[in-house]
Amino acid sequence: MKILVINGPNLNLLGKREPDVYGSKSLDDIMGRVKQHGKELGVDVESIQSNEEGALVTKIGETSGKYDGIIINPAAYTHTSVALRDAILACKVPCVEVHLSNIYRREEFRHKSLTAAACIGQISGFGPMSYLLALTGLVSHLKSVKKNK
Ligand code: DQA
Repeated sequence: MKILVINGPNLNLLGKREPDVYGSKSLDDIMGRVKQHGKELGVDVESIQSNEEGALVTKIGETSGKYDGIIINPAAYTHTSVALRDAILACKVPCVEVHLSNIYRREEFRHKSLTAAACIGQISGFGPMSYLLALTGLVSHLKSVKKNK
């Protein structure tokens, strides 16, 4: 089973960026831990990061047939991007949305996610653990779908 983790804009700055909100770990640290968790679950995990909406749309469009599942932190595009939402729906690869912070406890403009309804679920507010919870949930979902086929 292959899972792609997609990270959106400014997540390359994790560790330095608003550490009171996003914590002190770098994206590399977090992705390393997610890949290790993938090994524990017996799945392959790859990750990418881009600050560009078009690059994220293109990458999602290439996932069909290559990956069994997607974990995405669309970052600020969560709240603005119809293009990302459409890309997730179009690729038909099961997707889980994650956020480090609890977007519903923050500014009102973060309360709306345009992408969440295109996903099978959303995990928000557990810091780096959000990614691990998403991976556990996604793999369990994919295994049960496979079993019931
Ligand atoms: C974020 C929350 C978004 O509102 C914000 O724009 C981000 C990070 C999170 O992981 O908490 O860049 O997606």
